[in-house]
Amino acid sequence: MRKKIVAGNWKMNLNLEEGQKLTSEIVNMLKDENIKDVIAVLNPPFVHLYPVKKLIGDTPNLFLGSQNCSDKASGAFTGETSAGMLASFGATYVIIGHSERREYFKESNQLLTEKTKQALTNGLTPIFCCGEPLNIREAESHEAYVKQQLTESLFDFSPEEMSKIVIAYEPIWAIGTGRTASSDQAQEMHAALRTHLASKFGQELADNISILYGGSANPGNAKELFSKPDVDGGLIGGASLKSRDFVEIVKSF
Ligand code: 13P
Repeated sequence: MRKKIVAGNWKMNLNLEEGQKLTSEIVNMLKDENIKDVIAVLNPPFVHLYPVKKLIGDTPNLFLGSQNCSDKASGAFTGETSAGMLASFGATYVIIGHSERREYFKESNQLLTEKTKQALTNGLTPIFCCGEPLNIREAESHEAYVKQQLTESLFDFSPEEMSKIVIAYEPIWAIGTGRTASSDQAQEMHAALRTHLASKFGQELADNISILYGGSANPGNAKELFSKPDVDGGLIGGASLKSRDFVEIVKSF
């Protein structure tokens, strides 16, 4: 059975004190809520990983993730952080190929294959991001565009490797804009991606892959989005910076 996952992507926000406060609030709220079948993941900036992990402790269903990792294992790569380092800090998830990294840091589909390999080699679950810009959506070629992102980055993995990857569909026009995709638009794309994965890896494997939606998700629209059969959770930006909003989204299944 595929997992329900709500991952918070803090992006480059919050200083140490703010990050610790947010984490403590989420930990306390989740303990009260006793959430059983949803996995919550906090993805702070690298420098917050250690203090956030210490605060998460053994909170049930709450995990640590990173926003990025290097495509290399180790060596003279100034400023980079390896997947092995993240694992040694207790991270179990890593976001790979966020559209902001693709756009601002020119990360290619080929580079993202290498990052995904590093994550898998070190036992991290990659949250592999895909999604189209507005002009591609308006030209109605969004499905082909996003399928190609998966094909070029992930289709050389073995079925065993692929079964460990989580997909996050984040239409770029919906990120940080307040203009969320409708639940029907999300469902349509998620179903298309699952069919695409099935064409390469088989239906059973595709049925077990979690596909998250990201882009202006909030406590007001999460229930509707998560009610769709192929939407298995969310990758949350702005709303993950507010403890109550994040926890309400976790409770939205
Ligand atoms: P927002 O939720 O702020 O739109 O960001 C989505 C996102 O990019 C999560 O990775």
